[in-house]
Amino acid sequence: MGIEKESTPDGGMNFYEQPKGTAEKECQFHANTLYLCDNLCLMKRLPGSIIDLIYVDPPFFTGKERKAVSRIQGSEFRFQDTWSGGIDSYVSWLKPRLTQMRRLLKPRGLIYLHLDWHAVHYAKVAMDSIFSYDRFVNEIIWRYRTGGVSINRFSRKHDTILVYSKSAKFRIDPWKEKAYTKCRYRKAGLVNYGAGKSEFFEDGVGVYNLVNATDVWEIPYINSQAKERVGYPSQKPQKLMEKIISTSTRKGDLVADFFCGSGTTGVVAQSLGRKWILSDQSIEALKISKARIKNIISGQEPSEKTLRIPILKC
Ligand SMILES: C[S@@+](CC[C@H](N)C(=O)[O-])C[C@H]1O[C@@H](n2cnc3c(N)ncnc32)[C@H](O)[C@@H]1O
Repeated sequence: MGIEKESTPDGGMNFYEQPKGTAEKECQFHANTLYLCDNLCLMKRLPGSIIDLIYVDPPFFTGKERKAVSRIQGSEFRFQDTWSGGIDSYVSWLKPRLTQMRRLLKPRGLIYLHLDWHAVHYAKVAMDSIFSYDRFVNEIIWRYRTGGVSINRFSRKHDTILVYSKSAKFRIDPWKEKAYTKCRYRKAGLVNYGAGKSEFFEDGVGVYNLVNATDVWEIPYINSQAKERVGYPSQKPQKLMEKIISTSTRKGDLVADFFCGSGTTGVVAQSLGRKWILSDQSIEALKISKARIKNIISGQEPSEKTLRIPILKC
């Protein structure tokens, strides 16, 4: 066996193994499949330029073990996010994974990297070096209101999602939002500005036109009573994933999440008619992902109902 050492979270897998002679050998790739493995090992073995959209929500460099009890299975979910080598070891663990993600993207593909204040600035520098500074597309601020306030500083109530494209050609279709005009004389109707037309509408607040959404998204955190909550630590809201997947892909596109946790990306991709590929190194994570996706499939067209969801080891 060829054994390669790499940076990992404390208590994580210290080595990943590749059978001799198979290093970098492509593995059979199947869409709508869950992979149980260290994602670096999997990604190195997948063929390049196959994915339309990658969303990843890796450990945030919180310095804590993340654990929670599942509401559905009653079992405990956990993953490590402690790094005795500090931020350098975290970045050197993340970088080869981001490099592989770039290789896997189709030429018009996009990546959404979800982090917070702990490491996002280091990740921005890493992404600039891997994708290039010019391939930066957006810094999305996901703003939420959770309980708890800071005593001696401003409360930290947002995550940051960095968006990069593989090439200059990509497509995002933002939803439209109301932009109220401050002009007191503006009335509802069509206005010709010479360079283009803009249609104004009126509601109880005032006169507005519709413009592309901004990069600040206010979406509630999953509360303890929410139907979608499965109890996975750091589970992300489906609403957040709906915004990302529906604006950045089209039906039939392939969406990947290599740190899938409870499978929120797969759940939303499946319900929006996208293909997906998920991986995690925790079998508990993959079991809950599979159960959630099967639940979506059971409410879909008969053609979808025949879909099998294998869990493969890399
Ligand atoms: C923050 S959670 C993802 C939560 C997910 N977005 C959700 O909505 O449930 C991060 C996940 O990354 C997984 N993980 C950490 N290191 C990994 C690695 N090297 N390969 C595969 N999965 C990994 C952990 O097991 C954990 O499930």
